[in-house]
Amino acid sequence: MATHVRKKIAVIGAGFVGSTCAHWAAAKELGDVILLDVNDGAAKGKALDLYESSPVELFDSRITGTNNYADIAGSDVVIITAGLPRKPGMSRDDLLATNAKIMKEVCLGVKQHAPQSVVIVVSNPLDAMAFVAKDVLGFPANRVLGMAGVLDGARMKTFIAEELKVSVKDINAFVLGGHGDTMVPMPRHCSVGGVPLLEIMSKEKVDAIVTRTRNGGAEIVGLLKTGSAFYAPAASAVQMAEAILKDQKRILPCAAYLEGQYGVKGLFVGVLCKLGGSGLEQVIELKLNEDEKKGLDNSIKAVTELVEALKKLEF
Ligand code: LAC
Repeated sequence: MATHVRKKIAVIGAGFVGSTCAHWAAAKELGDVILLDVNDGAAKGKALDLYESSPVELFDSRITGTNNYADIAGSDVVIITAGLPRKPGMSRDDLLATNAKIMKEVCLGVKQHAPQSVVIVVSNPLDAMAFVAKDVLGFPANRVLGMAGVLDGARMKTFIAEELKVSVKDINAFVLGGHGDTMVPMPRHCSVGGVPLLEIMSKEKVDAIVTRTRNGGAEIVGLLKTGSAFYAPAASAVQMAEAILKDQKRILPCAAYLEGQYGVKGLFVGVLCKLGGSGLEQVIELKLNEDEKKGLDNSIKAVTELVEALKKLEF
């Protein structure tokens, strides 16, 4: 009988985002899950608690908590959620210095113990943290991705579905650019059951949804007051992981390390990607109109400035 080895997913950081990633990944039976945190008790306690839900929910995934990087050896995908979340009044960029230090430490562990993995960065400020990760890991561009566009696109789809009172399943929408105030929702590329959104929704309503999407993260921070979103960010990271683990060749918006696309070299920017077994398999470059191009250029400028600020920091 052929031995079939289960896939292995490491989730770094056992906070709200990390533990929710472990939850979605285990419930979907994507593989066995290692939940790692410097806080050993949090990692082990949440992992065991989640594992003990498996006979109720009937999923066959082993979930283990640890603070030891050696335990992530052999992981196919590593999802990095470690870092501080923002509080009300903070921008994602305010987290730059603290989270860069944490990201570096985490990536040294990943580089040593899971050198063949595909890494999905979730920590903020996303585009800069993905840059730190790529730099420290030294992995090729296909094996380092940032999660942002799936989340921002999901928010946009939610608002469209709610406004039109239709199923979220019939909505196609995505967001390009950095995961910050300059992100670029793409209403011209949205459709509802295949019908272009702009044909069935007024410009005012579309504009309101674009604005709400851009502020989607801050809207949740404002409500929670003690931290930031975790259900939708975790679901989004796990969707990317699933596309990779199952070699689905899905087309998803992700932060990818650009090597000339859209005229950008050496930066992570949110673009449409094909995700499959080897990670990032293709960046799909769109023909943009003037407004979209202006929006994306503006967002690329913001990411460039953030990475410049990052390079001045010692971490
Ligand atoms: C958000 C944070 C996680 O967009 O960046 O909710």
